Amino acid sequence: MKLLSLAVVVGIAQAFPFNYGFGFGFGDQQVPQLETSVFEGLEDYKVGKHSLLDFHKRLIDIDSTSDHENNASQFLKKYLKATGLTVEVQKIDDGLEERYNIYAYYGKTRDTKVVVTSHFDTVPPYIPYRIEGTKIYGRGSSDAKGSVAAQVFAFLSLLESKKIKEGDVSLLFVVGEENSGIGMITASKSLGAKWGSAIFGEPTELKLGVGHKGIFSFKLTANGLASHSGYPQLGISASEILIPVLNDLLHVKFPVNALLGPSTLNIGTFSGGLAGNVVPAHAEALIVVRVAGQLDVIADLVKKTVGNIEHLDYEVLINKDAVYLDHEVPGFDTIVLAYGTDVPNLQLDLKYRYLYGPGSILVAHGDNEHIDNSDLIEAVKGYKELVHHVLANSD
Ligand SMILES: *[C@@H]1O[C@H](CO)[C@@H](O)[C@H](O)[C@H]1NC(C)=O
Ligand SMILES: [Zn+2]
Repeated sequence: MKLLSLAVVVGIAQAFPFNYGFGFGFGDQQVPQLETSVFEGLEDYKVGKHSLLDFHKRLIDIDSTSDHENNASQFLKKYLKATGLTVEVQKIDDGLEERYNIYAYYGKTRDTKVVVTSHFDTVPPYIPYRIEGTKIYGRGSSDAKGSVAAQVFAFLSLLESKKIKEGDVSLLFVVGEENSGIGMITASKSLGAKWGSAIFGEPTELKLGVGHKGIFSFKLTANGLASHSGYPQLGISASEILIPVLNDLLHVKFPVNALLGPSTLNIGTFSGGLAGNVVPAHAEALIVVRVAGQLDVIADLVKKTVGNIEHLDYEVLINKDAVYLDHEVPGFDTIVLAYGTDVPNLQLDLKYRYLYGPGSILVAHGDNEHIDNSDLIEAVKGYKELVHHVLANSD
């Protein structure tokens, strides 16, 4: 099969003319032998000679903290290529280190009915892989290398059993989800592939996310005039400007959404002043509203409260609407999420958008991040069912 030449693609792995149903042969020497003894007592999921636990471990063994994902990019490219898939890499051009999104599919059809996607960057600090009982610990074990691993094996299994064919499903794994969204934004803008629907992987406790809140974040800066505290009439107190406004903000009635619950406000930081006996010339606060309901309504309420006050500057930092997802699939429970995802960064016209994955967000960014062995296995089945559902409801 010939190499595709595509403007957006920096490198492209060979597309193997495999027939997955005949003499199924993920035949490859590039993927090292399994260290099976490591996984004693755990349940594995295999497709051909490829092991889910082994893949998951290898991915966690690689430190892929956001902005430093290249080693993981290279591993994914090599591994997926070795399974016989066509693999494209998409370079992220943001002037930071070299790193790539990974796009994989079967054969040569880039546009698919459904794209199954997640991210392989993680928050810091790196935490090595370890097994305790039936729990697998390590940075990214849950967020989101658990999703990536389950998605890969769901895809390979569907392909092997001929439940899907060329043009049905593709895999998109992106960098930078945890800090900027640059990976998905880049894929959305310039990968140039078309998809009917998308299945996003994040830790959702094996439930379908009904949506997540947006973020409206802003900074308030009060600029007064310093003076001796014994002569406050000579100064302008920045504290006295900022504090009443913060109090007003705490009493604003923000919208409540039936699906996502209340919009909530957090005064995350506030600071001001230099010393007890000086009228403060400067005070500032960083505030985040978790948006449920309409973003513009919230922006208006905030502006009414903080706008047009003398000596007070108001700067909007983040302005992201809430996300509402498709969530009605027989056999799946649902969950409301309070965290952000890459979903809004994929700005394409999609018929369905689902969010699903193994692991709990409650441990995701913590020191004890882990995933249950059984959840990882269950997620493979979950992704397979979701793909079936989407394909059955696509044109
Ligand atoms: C990537 O791999 C190289 C070679 O093994 C290593 O020197 C480097 O530290 C790795 N990068 C990260 C971010 O771990
Ligand atoms: Zn995540």
